[in-house]
Amino acid sequence: HIAGPCSLVIFGVTGDLARKKVMPAVYDLANRGLLPPGFALVGFARRDWEHEDFAKIVLDAVKDHARTPFRQEVWDRLAEGVRFVQGTFDDDKAFATLADTLHKLDGERGTGGNHAFYLAIPPDSFPVVLGQLSKAGLAEPEDGQWRRVVIEKPFGHDLASAKELNSLVNKTFPEKSVFRIDHYLGKETVQNILALRFANQLFEPIWNANYVDHVQITMAEDIGLGGRGGYYDGIGAARDVIQNHLLQLLAFTAMEEPINFHPKELQAEKVKVLSAVKLVEPLDETTSRGQYAAGWQGGEQVVGLLDEEGFSKDSKTETFAAITLAVDTRRWAGVPFYLRTGKRLGRRVTEIAVVLKRAPHLPFDSTMTEELGQNAFVVRVQPDEGVTMRFGSKVPGSSMEVRDVNMDFSYGSAFTESSPEAYERLILDVLLGEPSLFPVNEEVELSWEILDPVLDHWAKSGAPESYESGGWGPASADAMMERTGRQWRRP
Ligand code: BG6
Repeated sequence: HIAGPCSLVIFGVTGDLARKKVMPAVYDLANRGLLPPGFALVGFARRDWEHEDFAKIVLDAVKDHARTPFRQEVWDRLAEGVRFVQGTFDDDKAFATLADTLHKLDGERGTGGNHAFYLAIPPDSFPVVLGQLSKAGLAEPEDGQWRRVVIEKPFGHDLASAKELNSLVNKTFPEKSVFRIDHYLGKETVQNILALRFANQLFEPIWNANYVDHVQITMAEDIGLGGRGGYYDGIGAARDVIQNHLLQLLAFTAMEEPINFHPKELQAEKVKVLSAVKLVEPLDETTSRGQYAAGWQGGEQVVGLLDEEGFSKDSKTETFAAITLAVDTRRWAGVPFYLRTGKRLGRRVTEIAVVLKRAPHLPFDSTMTEELGQNAFVVRVQPDEGVTMRFGSKVPGSSMEVRDVNMDFSYGSAFTESSPEAYERLILDVLLGEPSLFPVNEEVELSWEILDPVLDHWAKSGAPESYESGGWGPASADAMMERTGRQWRRP
């Protein structure tokens, strides 16, 4: 699908997100021929720039971060529609200039008066920008036009603030025009969970409490947080990625089959399953939180969080978080869902492991057989995208010894098509008005409802436990699993 006539306005063009993700994705879309011929890209910022200066900023971002090869003719065509509006968010005149610029662009390039406003800015600036858009008459479309707003997480920092934020946004834009980006939903492997589950006969019969022992969802990162203190200090791992990415992965893994893949039906199933998610108590034993200390990673010595630039010396911010959840439905009765995430862990990997119960009977001579592992089904979200099935197999030789082996499906070898970058797909969906991959306010609020008690509990529990950089998190994370006779996978 090619987007219809429109313009995209980015607030926060000088930030990392715009430079590394949004602007390169716009170019990639242009390069794939998915933008309309008269497309316009408008930057809004305080800097004293001319249109050409901004175009140069976009070009640099494209050259550094675009996924697709640079083609001069594609860039030249895109650059014709690049404009810049200078001003601060509280400057009425700047927003009048923005309205005027958009109006002129419509005349010159035929954008149809359709505008998407991308707020790549901190949420505390939302009220003023939304107010200004409304005052400048930019939030209300005329007949036959559309107006959309794109917002980025954090969608609040707890349930109360998320509700406030949602009602604020909904005062200016109706819910159907609000696109909340959770870039995990733009990942190929995440959407593939739905294909695996609902396009096959193989998995669904065992995808329930009769066969599944537990589910582990891991998002491990090797990077640290140097320079990100402004955003991350006081926020921490649970708010940064569990509230959004990991709970969305859980929703895809645990939800019932939607009657079709129309946005309304898909969202209804996600809302339903998130409503059934409960914390497992006592939180002291079923959760774990840590902060990275110095250590070695990738052959380099790295500092601990408290010595990272931008963090206060007494920061209690967690960089590792693990929680235990139950999904209170017949399908998942008694099956724990373990979610964990951390920075500066052993390697960068995101996976969902559905671990099955042990076979009820093993007719093997126990002295000849290694202890049989449990069958597992692993969705490898990234970086080595694919799916792994683990099962026992006879070791070649004269004795009946059984050992676990893996059967792998890899995107790289199964498909010649390449996956678009998550932002590319999501920005195109915004321009197409296709809302399936964007969490609605109810999902956001339900996710906070799940997490709030953990955050309260941690706030009262002193400093997080420290863990060595390059390892797999704090000892309490292992203890949390061992208490239930299980262990984390080492991906
Ligand atoms: C972001 C988080 O949402 O996701 C970051 O704010 C994290 O802290 C990033 O590093 C990871 O994204 P990806 O796509 O590299 O897994």
